[in-house]
Amino acid sequence: MPIQQNVSLHPFNTMAIEVKARSLAAFHTIEELQELLHNRPAKEPMLILGGGSNILFTKDFDGLVLKNELKGIHVVDEDDNYVYVKAGAGENWHGFVEFCLQRNLGGVENLSLIPGNVGASPMQNIGAYGVEIKDIFQELQALRISDNKIQLFSLNDCAFGYRESVFKHKLKDQYIILNVTYRLRKHPLYNTSYGAIEQELQHMGVKDLSIQTISQAVINIRRSKLPDPHEIGNAGSFFKNPSIPATQYATLQQSFPGIVGYKNPDGTVKLAAGWLIEQSGWKGVRRGDAGCHAKQALVLVNYGNATGKQVYDLSEEILQSIKTKFGVTLEREVNIV
Ligand code: FAD
Ligand code: EPU
Repeated sequence: MPIQQNVSLHPFNTMAIEVKARSLAAFHTIEELQELLHNRPAKEPMLILGGGSNILFTKDFDGLVLKNELKGIHVVDEDDNYVYVKAGAGENWHGFVEFCLQRNLGGVENLSLIPGNVGASPMQNIGAYGVEIKDIFQELQALRISDNKIQLFSLNDCAFGYRESVFKHKLKDQYIILNVTYRLRKHPLYNTSYGAIEQELQHMGVKDLSIQTISQAVINIRRSKLPDPHEIGNAGSFFKNPSIPATQYATLQQSFPGIVGYKNPDGTVKLAAGWLIEQSGWKGVRRGDAGCHAKQALVLVNYGNATGKQVYDLSEEILQSIKTKFGVTLEREVNIV
């Protein structure tokens, strides 16, 4: 497979940052990937790229970018309650959701329209509208970079948490995810309790609830507040929603009665970072072509020619101001390269 040199990564990241990679190659089969790894110079920096929708490039990448093009979606097993579907890591995530909706398989409808590829879905345990990947995850196969061997990971192996997995921490940069098997419900359980789903279903005039109507409601809500990366460069939420002790939340409530928080099962409280950022006056603020989105303050955007460093510097300014005003430290969700 051809390796291109000095390649612009602009088409490969939804932030639309103009940077270059020293080299870039796409792999379409596991054998092609193994050959690329086998032939690469020792210690050459390497980056696996899916849809590039959770990455901020702050400089040129002085190494090899591997574009994952492993395709295929297949039903691999079935029992009384579940159908097990295996998808190649290079499949588009929403394409996989549509595959399930067309076959009336439940569990992914609340995760409709999340950009990116299947292979990155376990990286940060993608989540939206009350559902996370961990809720439908069965297993995945990944290639260990050190010895080119394929390994199977179970739910427990992945150590999923809120926007977290073992691949972001203990096993960071050690594996390339090849495919993921999900467990979908034959008899869907509808989850409409989160956010504005009920309200949107009413607005749509839905009488008979189905996974298809829930998917459409989620799509409508997402389109109404999140910027489309084809129009304005962005990577979704730039920061995670931070969790704080209940006592600290109670103190903050006294000074900021409108503060938005949700109780976690462990008693801590998850704050809406978008609220903290909006209340600090950042919503709609622009620094050149880098900005804080006018409809969703948690999303940082590139209006055209922002550099990754400008976006990063804006994120640092925001982070510092939240720390000063609320005593809360935000953590970036987007992967900084
Ligand atoms: P990339 O950005 O290409 O990669 C992300 C990270 O994973 C990188 O570190 C990369 O090296 C690594 N990686 C990618 N593929 C592999 C692989 N096969 N093996 C090993 N490592 C790999 N996320 C949510 O959780 N919920 C949302 O609701 C949500 N909404 C979004 C809305 C918008 C408009 C946008 C732009 C983004 C949103 N995101 C959301 C973030 C993003 O869509 C997800 O994180 C998605 O899973 C990223 O997929 P990707 O293929 O684009 O990953
Ligand atoms: N809010 C504001 N101002 C804003 C934005 C939000 O006050 O500008 C407050 C509102 O009170 C709102 C609350 O924050 O009720 C929550 O906002 P929203 O429902 O838009 O969700 P979010 O917490 O901002 C999270 C995820 C999204 C996911 C949605 C829906 C994180 C970091 N983000 O956003 O995921 O789609 O919930 O489940 O957890 C992503 O990870 O990239 C992403 C987009």
